[in-house]
Amino acid sequence: MQSTSNVNKPDIAQLGHSVLRQEAQVVDDILSHECQNLIDEMMDAVNQAGGVGIAAPQIYRSMRVFIMCSKPSIRYPNAPLMPPTAIINPEIVSASKEMEKGWEGCLSVPSMRGFVPRHKEIAVTYYDRQGHKQQATYTDFVARIFQHELDHLDGLTFIDRLESPIDLISESHWYQEFAPKDSKM
Ligand code: NI
Repeated sequence: MQSTSNVNKPDIAQLGHSVLRQEAQVVDDILSHECQNLIDEMMDAVNQAGGVGIAAPQIYRSMRVFIMCSKPSIRYPNAPLMPPTAIINPEIVSASKEMEKGWEGCLSVPSMRGFVPRHKEIAVTYYDRQGHKQQATYTDFVARIFQHELDHLDGLTFIDRLESPIDLISESHWYQEFAPKDSKM
């Protein structure tokens, strides 16, 4: 018998599916129904999954769109609160030399956590869902989400960014050993 919590679970592409290894296509018409509907589907999916970000390839759509929705949660208690934001055709314009390692999970890599180095600060451009070009500078956790999701658009997962296989651990062990000390994620 399925628990009720599984009824609305979104169908997320899992590691090994080829869509996660493709370079996603640039969106030409952001205001099209296709793109706007995709954004709505992704907002629903990330909300139902309780994630802080999701990329279009994770719902089997190879387009350069992701959602960032950092918020405090059981998985990420100290995450800053931000409204769910659609990021279309993103680019990293510049990145700090300084890297920082932090724990990441991924809806497409269930039950695992990786200790992943990311740029501490990034300057980015993207288009919002109204089709307007935006510039922003992100640091720390939000910069981490952006880099993680942008990687999905280039056919990469956090596993590809690990310095060593030792930095990949089970989520259950992560909860035991790291979650109480590392309140960041
Ligand atoms: Ni992911």
